[in-house]
Amino acid sequence: MKVLLASSEVHPFSKTGGLADMVGALGKALARAGHEARIVTPLYRGIYEKFPGLKPEDWQFDLPLGAKQIQGKLFSLDVEKNLTIYFVEQDEFYNRAGIYLENDVSYADNAERFIFFSKCAAHLARYLPWQPEIVHVHDWQAAIVPALILHQRQNEGWGNPPATCLTIHNLAYQGTFPREAFALTNLPQEFFTPERMEFFDHLNCLKTGIAFADAITTVSPRYAREIMTEEYGCALDGILRKRKNSFYGILNGVDYEEWNPASDKFLDKNFSATRLGGKTANKLALQEEFHLPLDKNIPLFGTISRLAEQKGVDIQLGALEEMLSTDIQFVLLGSGATAYERGYQELARRFPTKVAVRVGYDETLAHRIEAGCDFYLMPSRFEPSGLNQMYSLRYGTIPIVRATGGLDDSVIDMTEDADCANGIKFREYSARALAKAIRKALAIYQQAELMRRYRRNGMKSDFSWNRTVAEYLRVYKTAKSATR
Ligand code: ADP
Ligand code: GLC
Repeated sequence: MKVLLASSEVHPFSKTGGLADMVGALGKALARAGHEARIVTPLYRGIYEKFPGLKPEDWQFDLPLGAKQIQGKLFSLDVEKNLTIYFVEQDEFYNRAGIYLENDVSYADNAERFIFFSKCAAHLARYLPWQPEIVHVHDWQAAIVPALILHQRQNEGWGNPPATCLTIHNLAYQGTFPREAFALTNLPQEFFTPERMEFFDHLNCLKTGIAFADAITTVSPRYAREIMTEEYGCALDGILRKRKNSFYGILNGVDYEEWNPASDKFLDKNFSATRLGGKTANKLALQEEFHLPLDKNIPLFGTISRLAEQKGVDIQLGALEEMLSTDIQFVLLGSGATAYERGYQELARRFPTKVAVRVGYDETLAHRIEAGCDFYLMPSRFEPSGLNQMYSLRYGTIPIVRATGGLDDSVIDMTEDADCANGIKFREYSARALAKAIRKALAIYQQAELMRRYRRNGMKSDFSWNRTVAEYLRVYKTAKSATR
């Protein structure tokens, strides 16, 4: 099948979170399953310099954006057989210090930036000599593409356009803008209704995708069920329920070429389920890197995260406060809301021999934390899929997660299956419930044989992309037969 993916982030070119990992890995997995995958994404600052293989295409975008006409150029990179990445160059929009924001503040022209990007994606789908059968768009930044395609089919003579699929990676980010932004789409006024693109007098890009895509997916079965309820639905549960026959939950896969402790080039020592000894060397190296007392017997907890409300920062700070009277260590790598960054830094200042914090974004350190810790904390308020808990499992680092979304779908608690247990789950969203889960972890830590069993079970669990890609292909086929 020929699939064009459109995403505002693609690993290894740009990344703020799991979206980048997922899209990069999906493209690769499709290509390796013998399909033709191409991914379109913006050319952000620094990409051109870092990837010398990028070549200019003989292509010029010149597209209306409201009353303006905006020009852009196209670059491409052949990554491997069957996988090409297209980069949209528009320096005023994308050549900036951040992807979405700077100093905690979103760019004021994000509607312009990503509506233009969506128009470029639809334009490529229509005019590339290589004609995709499916256009698979990700999150709000590309979510209006299905509406653009439908409009061009109905009014501008696009015969036989591709089917469309929207993946929701996070319902909390919808791309809502004051109604004036609707003009940027250059779509006719009749598209701007509460059934389609309007959301309480605003343009809502994600809702547009939900209304128009032939198929909609999200990144775990449980999150799919959750967001059809009022509690988790972020006010879009109604339209999701309306489209429930075309809505699927598919758990993300892991790129085990990138995340494999046996070959990970960022580690001090590689290890595997049968050679677990190497894990201790990574623990000591991590303690050293974070200037914590070197001691292989102290249980070491870690988190790598965007510091946003979603991630359960408030209950994590509360639970740590309570648990730091015991003999544990905790390391954090993260960045995000300034108040949260300060919260962790303050904890590190008060407990310098127990807590260490690195504010920032550091790919290498992320791998080293996965390898060096005994337990991984992920107490999310909600979590569409989550990747770090799956990385943790493969690195023999026992995840402690709140039973929500993809966390619930990927981790097995003792109470669900004692023989296969690979992590610890708690339900209630509270510091107390998380502290109790940490106490359970400490009890497991005291029993070497039990600890080994959890680790082995985790390292055995398999979230490889073969399964995930097969599920997407099924959805693509259904979407093709359902083209609206
Ligand atoms: P989300 O996409 O909601 O942020 P995921 O668990 O799906 O959560 O994916 C997060 C990805 O981003 C993981 O690959 C994780 O290692 C990475 N990540 C998050 N914060 C950082 C950071 N500060 N430094 C390095 N990698 C990070
Ligand atoms: C989002 C979600 C996260 C998911 C990722 C990739 O950022 O918050 O749970 O793993 O997208 O799908």
